[in-house]
Amino acid sequence: MKPTQELQKEIRALLKQKNALMLAHNYQRDEVQETADICGDSLGLSQAAAQSDADMIVFCGVHFMAESASILCPDKTVILPRLDAGCPMADMITVEDLRKEKEKRPGVPVAAYVNTTAEVKALSDICCTSANAVKVVNSVKSDGVYMIPDRNLSMYVARTAKKKMEWWDGFCPTHEKLKSAEVLKAKEKYPHAVFACHPECRPEVIDIADHVCSTSGMYKFAKETKAKTIIVGTEMGILYRLKKENPGKKFILASKSLICPNMKLITLEDVLEALQKTDRVVKVPEEIRIPAKKALDRMLEVPRD
Ligand code: 13P
Ligand code: SF4
Repeated sequence: MKPTQELQKEIRALLKQKNALMLAHNYQRDEVQETADICGDSLGLSQAAAQSDADMIVFCGVHFMAESASILCPDKTVILPRLDAGCPMADMITVEDLRKEKEKRPGVPVAAYVNTTAEVKALSDICCTSANAVKVVNSVKSDGVYMIPDRNLSMYVARTAKKKMEWWDGFCPTHEKLKSAEVLKAKEKYPHAVFACHPECRPEVIDIADHVCSTSGMYKFAKETKAKTIIVGTEMGILYRLKKENPGKKFILASKSLICPNMKLITLEDVLEALQKTDRVVKVPEEIRIPAKKALDRMLEVPRD
């Protein structure tokens, strides 16, 4: 095995040679984040891909994220260094499942979390992320909304959204592992700490959170809070940048089980090999890309704060 620095040097040289941009999701391994041109959340990375003039995008994340990049930049070659890096939650609802649910609710718009396959997005009316879900649901011109695939995000949105909501019973196996008892134990050990968690967590965990936010929201919160200790309720990969950007603060992972095995699949060796071979391409076919893009575009039209 080559030393990390050597791998990083070879990757950076190949990226330059191939006019490629390396993107890493906030949950990727530390050394992958360290090597990437840009780190960020799933949608932010796809938007960065679309804005760049690179010919090739090396997307270090999971399959639906590389698909989103392909949807937003069809002229670029999108590479996912491990094609088997999927998102179990995104795979919990299929096109057939969604067709059946839509038949049961004629005229009710479907809001799809970005953690869905391109085919499922193509059948949906609007997309949302964990950062804009409430705004997106409220923006829909209908009394009711059917939200997919995450029951926890849906229940979180239903707390404040002004819509009659129903949802698919999917969940993130990683965030689902976090129990309120673990958070309470951490709070007891660090009584002055604040607890911030992702809306993919169980409702009982959200009930005891000081702040609920997307991965990008977590960086903002960490910077702005006056608290010196933050208990983190999301995937452990987020700690890399949280610690780097806030050297004066302490970050405590709420549970050792907050590891997404799929997010940890990609190694620097995979990135190098994928760049050398230019294989592992993710390409969404036009007949799916165009309707899926419509759902993403509708989300992007919703004004931000
Ligand atoms: P973001 O949309 O914040 O990147 O999160 C994606 C995800 O998979 C959360 O578990
Ligand atoms: Fe999917 Fe959960 Fe992993 Fe995010 S953390 S990629 S939602 S399985």
